[in-house]
Amino acid sequence: MERYWIRGGVPLEGRVTIPAAKNSVLPLMAAALLTRGQTVLEGVPQLADVSTGCRLLTRLGAGVEWEGRDLVIREPREWDPQIPPTLAGAMRGSVFYLAPVLARTGRVTLPMPGGCNLGPRQIDIHLEGLCRMGARLHWHGGKMTLLAPEGLRGIEYTLRLPSVGATETLLMAAAVARGHTLLRGVACEPEIRDLAGYLNRCGARIKGAGGPVIQVEGVSSLTGSRWRPIPDRIAAATFAGAAACAGGRITLDRCPADQTAPFLDLLEGMGCGVDRQPDQVTVTCAGPLVGGVDLVARAYPGFPTDMLPLAAAVLLKGRGYSRLTDTLFQNRFACAAGFRAMGARVWNRPGGILLQGGLPLWGAQVQAPDLRGGAALVLAALAAGGQTLLADRGHIARGYPDLPGSLELLGARIRRLEQN
Ligand code: EPU
Repeated sequence: MERYWIRGGVPLEGRVTIPAAKNSVLPLMAAALLTRGQTVLEGVPQLADVSTGCRLLTRLGAGVEWEGRDLVIREPREWDPQIPPTLAGAMRGSVFYLAPVLARTGRVTLPMPGGCNLGPRQIDIHLEGLCRMGARLHWHGGKMTLLAPEGLRGIEYTLRLPSVGATETLLMAAAVARGHTLLRGVACEPEIRDLAGYLNRCGARIKGAGGPVIQVEGVSSLTGSRWRPIPDRIAAATFAGAAACAGGRITLDRCPADQTAPFLDLLEGMGCGVDRQPDQVTVTCAGPLVGGVDLVARAYPGFPTDMLPLAAAVLLKGRGYSRLTDTLFQNRFACAAGFRAMGARVWNRPGGILLQGGLPLWGAQVQAPDLRGGAALVLAALAAGGQTLLADRGHIARGYPDLPGSLELLGARIRRLEQN
């Protein structure tokens, strides 16, 4: 159990460089298994989920090595296509190993993937798509095994909803399947375009990634390459939100302003100053903020679900009643209990929460319920008077390389306490 001590009410000042996106890096690490030879992912952040990915790759037989901040992945000489329950259960990103391992070895076994408890997180679309491509699915003792000894074949398939993970699974499978694949109703998130960009650099023939229809001409093999994953729009929103909560002025270097736009627009509407340059954003927050908004998270380019708890923390500072709704995950606002412990007026309602902003918050003992909910409680603690003790079962370190360290460099009074 990690514990963070935070004293709120101290304005932030300075610059922070946005790390590479966790949700790009995790599928890219798995996709490297599709390629022959070696892949170098540049500037990979030291996240708990990345360590889990490294252990998973090693377990499958791949060579994994850090060269400074770059992650070098070499294809396995001998494959072990079984993913153990401890690694599968440690992160949702274990599901990304289904398609590459199946495509390379003709079989893969995976216990149910873990990850944040945001409500039911099905994987039926991943499985249905792979089965349409020729795989056979067996369940035994809570594990799934997919078999495709003759390889996978291209398909025409419409996803029943634009799942990010399922789009990535099917993109990886289609890249090396026999023949043509046409995927409709896919997710359009920037991380999908990043994955397709990497695969194309390795020799894949993918068109349309980033839009709702993707076409793939399967190739017989891919060759590893160097790739720099896109910066993390959720981390960018976290730091921008920290400036809004604590006050002050911070510059975000390597900030994808367009992909962070929904969050930056919210801050601007509330009264923060937001200066957007192509690769850099400065957020200034001086006076009181105005809330009273109705935010609904939707698939890209809608307001991102992962930014919703962060937005809630900021809206606690904005005068008025705000309503936040998530259309993707049922349990997005487990952090509401922590907000309430800090004195916030927050009510659960179907699909989300209603909150009254502009009231004072005070430090309290709270618990991080999940990754983004934990980050949202850090933001609320920066806005609160007095001290907060935040207990966290490792959620925050899954998605941020060193959130307390980065905030401390910006002047925040925050410390990671000794583990107990
Ligand atoms: N869904 C299904 N069937 C499927 C797949 C998804 O019903 O086969 C449902 C899920 O149950 C959920 C919804 O579709 O209700 C959206 O799930 P999606 O598959 O799009 O999300 P994901 O791939 O599991 C990724 C990110 C999440 C992010 C979502 C939405 C990774 C490792 N995770 O999850 O990130 O919230 O997309 O953008 O890429 C985070 O970083 O904190 C995080 C949770």
